[in-house]
Amino acid sequence: MLYQNAHLLQIRPASQQWVAGADMRVLPELKDAWLLTQNGRIKAFGPMSECPQGHQEKTLDCTDRILMPAWCDSHSHLVYAGNRESEWMDRLNGLTYEQVAARGGGIVNSAQLLNETPEEEIYQQSKLRLQEVISLGTGALEIKSGYGLTLEGELKMLRVIRRLKEEAPIPIRATFLAAHALPTRYKDDKAAYLQLVIDEMLPRVAGDGLADYIDVFCEKGYFDIQDTELLMEAGARYGLPAKIHVNQFNAFGGVAAAVRHGALSVDHLEELDPVDVRALAGSKTMPVALPGCSFFLGIPYTPGRTLIDAGLPLALATDFNPGSAPSGNMNLVVALACNKMKLTPEEAINAATLNGAYAMGLSSETGSITVGKRTNLILTKRNVSVSSFGYRFGSPLIQQVIEQ
Ligand code: NIG
Ligand code: FE
Repeated sequence: MLYQNAHLLQIRPASQQWVAGADMRVLPELKDAWLLTQNGRIKAFGPMSECPQGHQEKTLDCTDRILMPAWCDSHSHLVYAGNRESEWMDRLNGLTYEQVAARGGGIVNSAQLLNETPEEEIYQQSKLRLQEVISLGTGALEIKSGYGLTLEGELKMLRVIRRLKEEAPIPIRATFLAAHALPTRYKDDKAAYLQLVIDEMLPRVAGDGLADYIDVFCEKGYFDIQDTELLMEAGARYGLPAKIHVNQFNAFGGVAAAVRHGALSVDHLEELDPVDVRALAGSKTMPVALPGCSFFLGIPYTPGRTLIDAGLPLALATDFNPGSAPSGNMNLVVALACNKMKLTPEEAINAATLNGAYAMGLSSETGSITVGKRTNLILTKRNVSVSSFGYRFGSPLIQQVIEQ
C-alpha cells in the first residue's frame, strides 16, 4: 500500500530504542509525505516531491491526516474472567481498593472466578477485549497472568495469552505474574507459596515457553523486597527478565531492587521517592505510568514530570484489568497523561509509542515510523493535530487502524 500526502509522525532511526528527558518534547515529523508498506513492514517513505511514480501499489490519500505508529501498551492484565463491578460499587460507597482487598475481594476474587471458568470461555472473553483495544489503536500489547494463583490457573491464563499471540494481527508479549497476591490457602504461609512458584510454576511456564517476562506485585501487604528479589533471581535462571509492579501505594526501595536486577520496566510509581529517581538514572529500566489506574482508583498520578525532568524516559500503559483499570483505551491514557500528569502531547505520544515498545522488548519491531518496522499504524481523521490527543479528550480521533 502507498500512503500519500500524509503527515508522518514519530519518525525514528532503527538504532533508537527509547526517548528520554528533554528529547521527549520532540516528535520528529515529515509533512506532505508518502509511505510505502509491503509484506506487513514499512518499506520506504519520503517527501511527496519524491513520491515513487508508476508504481503498482494500491494508494490511499491521507491529506490532512496524521500517519503514526499505533499505541504500544506495555502493561495489561487483559486475560481475566468476568468483572468486579460489585467491588467498584463498594468503592463508590466509600471503601478503598485496599479495604476491598482486605475483605477478601480484589485479586483473589478474580482468581477464584478464573479458576472456575473454562479456558475456552476465558479465551472468548479476552479475545473480545483484544479486538476492542486493537480497534482503539493499540498495535502492540503485553498481557500478564496472575489471576491463577494456582499452577493450573496460571498455565490456563498463559495458554490463553499464547493463543491470542498466535492469532492476533499485532505483536503480543506474555508476562508470568508469578506473585500477584497470596491465595487464601497460603495466607499464613507465604514462604510455601513462593516455593510453589519457584519449584513448580516457573519450570512449567518456562519449559512450555509460555512467558517472555516475570512480574511481581512488590507492595506492602503483598510481596516485599526480599520476595521480589527471590523471584527476579528465579526468573533470571530461566531467562525471563523482570517487569515489576512497584510503588503503587508505598515506596520502600522496590525500584532500586528492580534496577539492581536489570528489570526491563518498573510499573505504577504513583508513590515516588527521590531515591527511586536516583536509582533509575543511568539504568536501562523503563519507568511506566498507568494513569487509567490513578483515575479509576482515585490515587495519585505518577509524577511523570519529575521523571522526565530528571532526564529519564517514561512509558505509558493502560494496566487494563478488572480491579484497578477496566479500560484498555490508550487514547484515554494519553489524554490523562497530558491533563493530569502535565505531560506535553509530544511527551505523552513518545511515552505511548516507542518507550512503550521498549518496555516490552519490542522497540526494534514497532513504536515508530522506521523502515523495516511492522505496519502497526494509526491514520487519524482529518484536522487532528498533535495537541488533539490531549485536548480533545474522549473524542475518537482515529479514522483507521492499520495492522499489516
Ligand atoms: O496493576 N496492582 C496489582 N495489579 C493490578 C490490579 C489487579 C486487580 O485489582 O485485579 C494493577 O493495578
Ligand atoms: Fe498491573
